[in-house]
Amino acid sequence: MNDRQGPLIDIIAGARPNFMKIAPIIRAIEARQAGGSRLRYRLVHTGQHYDERMSGDFFVQLGIPKPNVNLEVGSGTQAEQTASIMTRYEKLLLAELSQLCLVVGDVTSTMACAITAQKLCVPVAHVEAGIRSGDWTMPEEINRMVTDSITNWFFTTSENANANLRRSGVSADRIFFVGNTMIDTLLANLDRLRPPDFWATLKLEPNRYFVMTLHRPANVDVNGHFADLLAAIGEGTRHYPVVFPVHPRTSKTLQVIVDFPANLHLVEPQPYLEFNYLVKHAKAVITDSGGITEESTVMGVPCFTLRDSTERPETVSVGTNELIGTNPKNLKPHLDRLFAGQWKKGSIPEKWDGRTGERIAAILERIL
Ligand code: UD1
Repeated sequence: MNDRQGPLIDIIAGARPNFMKIAPIIRAIEARQAGGSRLRYRLVHTGQHYDERMSGDFFVQLGIPKPNVNLEVGSGTQAEQTASIMTRYEKLLLAELSQLCLVVGDVTSTMACAITAQKLCVPVAHVEAGIRSGDWTMPEEINRMVTDSITNWFFTTSENANANLRRSGVSADRIFFVGNTMIDTLLANLDRLRPPDFWATLKLEPNRYFVMTLHRPANVDVNGHFADLLAAIGEGTRHYPVVFPVHPRTSKTLQVIVDFPANLHLVEPQPYLEFNYLVKHAKAVITDSGGITEESTVMGVPCFTLRDSTERPETVSVGTNELIGTNPKNLKPHLDRLFAGQWKKGSIPEKWDGRTGERIAAILERIL
């Protein structure tokens, strides 16, 4: 935050996938401040993610300033988290109103802060607006829909998102197709990526291992299904090591599974630079995340998404991603195709060029 009086923007971040999305926006605002801009920002961490490995490490590695405020909401059910974020953010706004609430992505903090701000007549800008999976069983889809229904300015990553917004009645002058801030962060850090400590102990070699992340309830909350999925992955990957950084939610289910494939290596959630090093050099990525499908697309690494839908269809139509579904039987034929060298090459979606944060800051300056 700087002291010069000018419009104050609350930048909201709460959970791991938010941190790489806010970093380039903050950098771009600070660059404008250095050039005389009067824009000010207040960085608000809701505390939805609080472990060092899910939060603090990302701030350090990505050079994100210490939050001005941490609402420290911690874990809870969807409703508990939402209520707690709203109550605490409302107190902050009542103490000092901002002129804009800028939210990113689709986590619970995104939706909760957007509602709170708009009810106090603070306009909302949503970065990564307009994407839709159509799957209402995922809390993120509800968060996207609610947030976009009360957003004033929409910053989008794709023409698909623009079309979704136009279809829902948003006028074209409120939609800004700016590209992808997560990719700004990736491109800015490609040269800094570094191997994790276990690279040597697990004897990992480029293009001779897989990296996997799974944490969606549909994959990890039903014990029998999760065990079957792991068995199918173990078999289909032909003894190549599969490195599996385990999200806290997933580790709870894993505790009751006894039969692990021998080539599966469970590791802690990885910091940003180490995780993306693993992705960059992997034979392929197996995931149920959305953001990782974008990063693997840009790095040209084959990506298997274990979901039936995606809110990021350009990672499939343009990029390296394919939807495999959640049925363990689906995996082997696709892995066989990969081993036969028949995976598509993919290219990089429009405007995913590393300049999105700058475009957003320039537009914010204009709007405010
Ligand atoms: C959240 C996001 C999801 C994102 C994921 C990435 C929502 C609805 N979902 O899901 O989109 O892909 O983050 O990481 O916002 N926990 C810890 N330490 C932490 C954070 C969580 O131990 O720092 C544990 C808690 O037991 C908690 C559970 O993980 O109950 C789930 O955390 P929560 O923030 O509710 O959702 P995620 O599954 O992490």
